[in-house]
Amino acid sequence: MSDDQRFFDFLRERIGLDVGSVGSAIIERAVRQRIVAEPGRTVDQYWQCLQQSPKEQQALIEAVIVPETWFFRYPESFATLARLAINRLAEIRHLRALRILSLPCSTGEEPYSIAMALLDAGLEPHQFKVDGLDVSPLSVERARGARYGRNSFRGADLAFRERYFSADEEGYRLDERVREQVRLQVGNLLDPALLVNEAPYDFVFCRNLLIYFDQPTQRLVFEVLKRLTHQDGVLFIGPAEGSLLGRLGMRSIGVPQSFAFSRQGAPDPQPLPTLMPTPLPVRQPARVAPPVTPPVVRPRPFMASVTPLAESKGSDAATLLANIATFANSGKSAEARAACEQYLRSHPPKAQVFYWLGLLSDMAGSALEAQGFYRKALYLEPQHAEALVHLAALLASQGDVAGARRLQERAARGGRTADSERKQ
Ligand SMILES: C[S@@+](CC[C@H](N)C(=O)[O-])C[C@H]1O[C@@H](n2cnc3c(N)ncnc32)[C@H](O)[C@@H]1O
Repeated sequence: MSDDQRFFDFLRERIGLDVGSVGSAIIERAVRQRIVAEPGRTVDQYWQCLQQSPKEQQALIEAVIVPETWFFRYPESFATLARLAINRLAEIRHLRALRILSLPCSTGEEPYSIAMALLDAGLEPHQFKVDGLDVSPLSVERARGARYGRNSFRGADLAFRERYFSADEEGYRLDERVREQVRLQVGNLLDPALLVNEAPYDFVFCRNLLIYFDQPTQRLVFEVLKRLTHQDGVLFIGPAEGSLLGRLGMRSIGVPQSFAFSRQGAPDPQPLPTLMPTPLPVRQPARVAPPVTPPVVRPRPFMASVTPLAESKGSDAATLLANIATFANSGKSAEARAACEQYLRSHPPKAQVFYWLGLLSDMAGSALEAQGFYRKALYLEPQHAEALVHLAALLASQGDVAGARRLQERAARGGRTADSERKQ
């Protein structure tokens, strides 16, 4: 496609997606997918159709979004929310229900985790309400259905599944008492009229979305988030988004691995109680990762990356991937890069290939470019262990110790999870 820019612009204006953050291949693939949905149409014909059809616009958005999410993602943040919620109820003297927002909520795992965490902490159903919004009607519809497969349950501590789900042949069905706490609707964070008639929220979760916006969009969205968050409220974000909020005038509340921020200048949040006033929830409190030594390593050779590829032998993709590894391992960086680019032109985007491109750029001394590639790998596969470690090394070498540390901890958690899953 030679005229990609207009599609990039369209997606940036409609949902804030920044081609620089996710990479053009992801958007090009989605556009191609939509073009061939009606055989024989050209790029220009598709562009005309896109201009005129809100349905097609939505279809392209659905094709490009990544609804990756799971229950109790970053478990520490839910433990923190539970403690803060108890404090907040006391602050407002139990006069009203707590208001909590999950935006984007994707297929519902996040808002439902919020509800389960608060019920586990002893809150009564009338003491809180959760709103979940997402730009994708398909995701919101799935969230309303509240049926989940194995992929929504990750990590070692799945006791909540026994308490709140019933299993049937289609997967796991969430109990009514959790569903009743959550109101779901379609909403775009870029819509100036978003939730204008709603009172501000005590807690706002906006996780794993800001990183895919360019800076002007981030600033715009930040103002929206500030409007939606109560003056004394707390904003929870994704692990990669902390430095951004710091720059925009929020400050961390200082609870490790919760990624929780309050407004700068606002009074200090109440110290977190060491003991819960209600009986401890059955769910185990999340553990805090032990301190991790700041990384000093530079990227390792490619050998370790060759084995995990799952492509079937003899397929075109498998051959290309094997070529990348062979070139890279024999020091033929230019050829390895060309093979990566060829792969991305002819196959769906793959985290491993972006990781290789990151390594190649890193070794060539292009730190910024490398960073972009590692982030793309993590966009596609948030727990890609090597991309996490190498991006952490890169950030540390640039003086971003906090950012590096977050990634190391995330990698360490992934390692622990994989270990405990292996043991089961
Ligand atoms: C990676 S998921 C994050 C889900 C959840 N917050 C989490 O961290 O697990 C990103 C979601 O953002 C949604 N999204 C993308 N652009 C959006 C926008 N402009 N407004 C609202 N939602 C958006 C997508 O539909 C997708 O479901």
